Amino acid sequence: MATLAVGIDVGTSSVKAVALKRTGSGYALKSVGQADIRRAEYHPEESPQSLAEAPLRALERISQDSAFSRKPCAFSVSGPRVAPRLFKFPSIPKGEVEQAIRFEAEQIIPFDLAQAALDFVLFDEGMEEGKPVIEGLVVAVHKEEVDKQYVLLKSGGFDPVVLDIDTLALSNSFLETEGVAERETVALINIGARFTNLAILHGGRRVFVRDIASGGDMLSRAISEIYGLDLPQAEKRKREAVYTPLDELEGGGGGDAGADMGDGTQAGGDTEGFGGGETESFQPVDEGGEEYVLLDSDETAFNTGSDTMTDGAGSTGGDEGFAASGETQNAMNAAQRISANRAVLVDALGDLISEIQDTFKYYINRRIVPRIDKVRLCGGTAKFPDIDEFFASQLGVPTQLWNPFARLDVSGVSGKFPPNFLDELGPLMAIATGLAMRQL
Ligand SMILES: Nc1ncnc2c1ncn2[C@@H]1O[C@H](COP(=O)(O)OP(=O)(O)OP(=O)(O)O)[C@@H](O)[C@H]1O
Ligand SMILES: [Mg+2]
Repeated sequence: MATLAVGIDVGTSSVKAVALKRTGSGYALKSVGQADIRRAEYHPEESPQSLAEAPLRALERISQDSAFSRKPCAFSVSGPRVAPRLFKFPSIPKGEVEQAIRFEAEQIIPFDLAQAALDFVLFDEGMEEGKPVIEGLVVAVHKEEVDKQYVLLKSGGFDPVVLDIDTLALSNSFLETEGVAERETVALINIGARFTNLAILHGGRRVFVRDIASGGDMLSRAISEIYGLDLPQAEKRKREAVYTPLDELEGGGGGDAGADMGDGTQAGGDTEGFGGGETESFQPVDEGGEEYVLLDSDETAFNTGSDTMTDGAGSTGGDEGFAASGETQNAMNAAQRISANRAVLVDALGDLISEIQDTFKYYINRRIVPRIDKVRLCGGTAKFPDIDEFFASQLGVPTQLWNPFARLDVSGVSGKFPPNFLDELGPLMAIATGLAMRQL
């Protein structure tokens, strides 16, 4: 059976690692690792040297797991120095294909061609209007981008041998686990800290891939502005589910409920494969407490509550003396929280939504896809409460959070973690999972 690479996704805010093995029907999870990267914006207390070394330290923590250490790995790059382009041209003699693809690449490279590493894949030959066409994908990556990660991975205890790009790893991860029906179109949206990776798949084909410079950092900035918090506090509040009644904020600088984010050390941190230290927590935050926002929020409560509860603005009833029952009060609190979280989403991700809308429109208007049937969200920022409902309403497309681990056999590792831990972690691991499916 073919040997698989281990998948290492070096993001801005954390490193994610996945090791899989093939089973008769799919894949089994052999090991998983995740380690935070401390960043200057959120950890101003750290020395410049420690911040510069933070990605390496995160990799070193992960490579303590023997499932990853020194193993051949697949890694990926993303961002403005990665230029993917899907191409289609009439069938031409084999010997001319490479030159034609090079020409395609030259059209899109936003940097000097001499600085680019080029690669391409050809899809199965298709037919259009009765004539054979050649379809495929060419990717140009700035060499510095590749070298930087290569050196980092080597120093961190890995053996980088397969290069990919985030959006393709994301697509593979989905195609190999969920799959896409023949006439179905799915948009995958992986929202990280700095970047959002967007991939549109139609019936198993990759139709469009792109990175957009927007992500969780925008949410932290919006929270910082809306709530008057500094960035480290805003990032902390975001991961705890954001909402705090305004009076608490005014009264006591945030009234942090419970969860310990101060030193980055969390439940699950010492579990094997997670390298201890700054491992992220994915435990539900303070269930039942003030900070917890239900994910499956009640749309009705949101609609009726939002007008009456948002900071006194636009009160519908004007019932100053209204005495709410316990139940009504709870519904009102939930509505207030959802409304507060939505305000943050609108402020932070409005531009991202517009970019995605424009892309959808472009592909539908040019009849490349008939419609977008569903959106699947993943990445760390997809854990923000109510974000699925927000995307669904903004894009007009059914949207759900996607956990790639849901379709893997996790029985070999699940006992090492607290209950639900892998379900909570899964949405962050989509790219690492796709990388871990690459054959050596
Ligand atoms: N529970 C949570 N609620 C909201 N946001 C969260 C939560 N947990 C993590 N995040 C955010 O998710 C982002 C990290 O996600 P992810 O690990 O997918 O990004 P990354 O790969 O490190 O970054 P990028 O791909 O942009 O370089 C951060 O902005 C972080 O604040
Ligand atoms: Mg990422």
